[in-house]
Amino acid sequence: MTQSDAAAVRGEGLTHSYRTAGRSLTALHEVTISAARGRITALVGPSGSGKSTLLRMLACLERPDEGRVEVGGTDVTALSARARRAIRRRRIGYVFQNPVDNLLDYLTVREHLELAARMRGIAPVGADLLDRLGLDHRAGHRPRQLSGGEQQRTALAFAAVGDPAAVLADEPTAQLDRASAHLVAEALRALAEAGQTVVVATHDPLLMAAADDTAELVDGRIR
Ligand SMILES: Nc1ncnc2c1ncn2[C@@H]1O[C@H](COP(=O)(O)OP(=O)(O)OP(=O)(O)O)[C@@H](O)[C@H]1O
Ligand SMILES: [Mg+2]
Repeated sequence: MTQSDAAAVRGEGLTHSYRTAGRSLTALHEVTISAARGRITALVGPSGSGKSTLLRMLACLERPDEGRVEVGGTDVTALSARARRAIRRRRIGYVFQNPVDNLLDYLTVREHLELAARMRGIAPVGADLLDRLGLDHRAGHRPRQLSGGEQQRTALAFAAVGDPAAVLADEPTAQLDRASAHLVAEALRALAEAGQTVVVATHDPLLMAAADDTAELVDGRIR
């Protein structure tokens, strides 16, 4: 395994400020982090410490003021907006906290995976991914016919289609009961064991326990 394979997603010296109402708030200070293939990396820390901000930088949803982000060995920071969109679509899977925000209510679970494959320019995949995430018996269901945990596992499957550089999830268990959260943690583990790079921002002890690596943020700095 080469170094760039080992660190599928990497942030180096990431600094970012938000400007609101004439004030500037520095949410990240020179944060350096690597997420390795085949492992679950947890971003933990108090509310407001910068977890979501860091995750959005790594997912190419936002650009840092300073520092660089590498996705699969490519420095994406310097790319055009269009090239970054392509990386986001093909190389990154992102899962929002709220299950319904991740899915289209008129598509079945199987159709979500077909859509993900089209977006990533690959042949349709499916059965084994659904199997691995415990969704094989739900393939024909639409989001409204699924539990919150099943929706979130569908979102993980959608994010993981085509072996992207990383699957990043922001508090994916925050809206779930404990039994569903447990199944989501198992799904993340299954993705990591299949070689996927998984990064989660979380407050959930259950997910923290499932992680292989942990990065703690305090006031926008890695501790
Ligand atoms: N879009 C924004 N505009 C202005 N300030 C923001 C924005 N997003 C985040 N912030 C601020 O940046 C800091 C870090 O926020 P962030 O959402 O990354 O924290 P977090 O660790 O994810 O918190 P939580 O655990 O509550 O989700 C906070 O002080 C927050 O108020
Ligand atoms: Mg957050």
